[in-house]
Amino acid sequence: MAEVFPGDFWKNKKVLVTGGCGFLGSYLTEELLTTGAAVTVVDNLETGRMENLSSVSGKFRFVKGDLRDGGLCGELAEGMDVVLNLAGRAYGLEYSMSHHGDMLCHNTLVQLNMLEAARQKEVKRFLVVSSSCVYPDDAVIPTLELDVLTGLPEKVNEGYGWAKRVGELQARYYRKEYGMEIAICRPFNPYGGRYHWSGEKSHVMPTLVKRILDGEDPLVVWGSGNQRRTFLHARDTVRLMLMVAERHPSAEPVNIGYDDDISIKDLVSLICEVSGKKPKVLFDTSKPEGRFRKCADATLLKRVSAGYQPEIGLRDGVREMEEWYHRSFGK
Ligand SMILES: NC(=O)c1ccc[n+]([C@@H]2O[C@H](COP(=O)([O-])OP(=O)(O)OC[C@H]3O[C@@H](n4cnc5c(N)ncnc54)[C@H](O)[C@@H]3O)[C@@H](O)[C@H]2O)c1
Repeated sequence: MAEVFPGDFWKNKKVLVTGGCGFLGSYLTEELLTTGAAVTVVDNLETGRMENLSSVSGKFRFVKGDLRDGGLCGELAEGMDVVLNLAGRAYGLEYSMSHHGDMLCHNTLVQLNMLEAARQKEVKRFLVVSSSCVYPDDAVIPTLELDVLTGLPEKVNEGYGWAKRVGELQARYYRKEYGMEIAICRPFNPYGGRYHWSGEKSHVMPTLVKRILDGEDPLVVWGSGNQRRTFLHARDTVRLMLMVAERHPSAEPVNIGYDDDISIKDLVSLICEVSGKKPKVLFDTSKPEGRFRKCADATLLKRVSAGYQPEIGLRDGVREMEEWYHRSFGK
């Protein structure tokens, strides 16, 4: 029989959610508050927004602060049972591929500081949020939770990928050296209606939705359009992240994604169909398209989540992204 989620694990636990005002962090905070946990959210609000948490306002403690400050990390970790570390810079391809230094430095600092503070303050449980970007370009497809320290992370996200690899290494070492309970998850392309639009820094799904609903015609898409990705709604993504944090704290990475990938060409068609738009679509093969195929071997995830079935399918998710567009851009 499937394990009940959420179980009693979170009840009355003091939990620090870093980056809790962000895209994934806000969905995760909402879910966590249904479990009876006492939640503190910290965020510097560089991309996060308080209104993401408006449905649960007054139900958690909020601290505004920057986790590149190790002293602040120490103050926040004091007395916590669990730290779920989602803070960081996670941008789309266009920004990431030309800012490897920024992505490496910012994300590594936040991760190293927060886990070290948790260790010093004897926090028992910690979640490292890694990424599918740790995998090399030639990883097997669907991708198993390989040991990724052979070769480079995917080229377009190299700086970001290295930061995530360092976080995973720190987790592995701290587990062995200090016996901390640490879970690691590697999300694959989460999306959802709370996405924060940030121009050229934005991810592929919201970028395509915006450009199609803006009425771009012809619509020029980067790459051949044959590149394939798997998408998972943020609500399902964070539920799975919480299950991994609760049930698999052995510093062994777990993919948060499945092998149901779709080509970018077909995703464009789906968005056009759902929105009723009919642009002429051109594919610009002089522009990078990232890895040809990205999808997860979900064997371990299915075991840890006891066969959890995602609730939000891609067509419904695309409809939600259309509503996101109208809310965000007022058209
Ligand atoms: N969105 C994705 O496609 C994706 C995929 C895999 C992994 N992830 C990881 O999931 C986590 C959450 O990403 P997201 O998509 O919700 O991004 P997001 O930008 O919406 O959320 C990150 C949050 O962290 C905050 N933040 C950033 N730097 C900070 C700092 N120095 N101190 C305090 N707060 C800071 C931001 O204000 C924001 O609220 C990140 O670790 C990211 O790397 C995201």
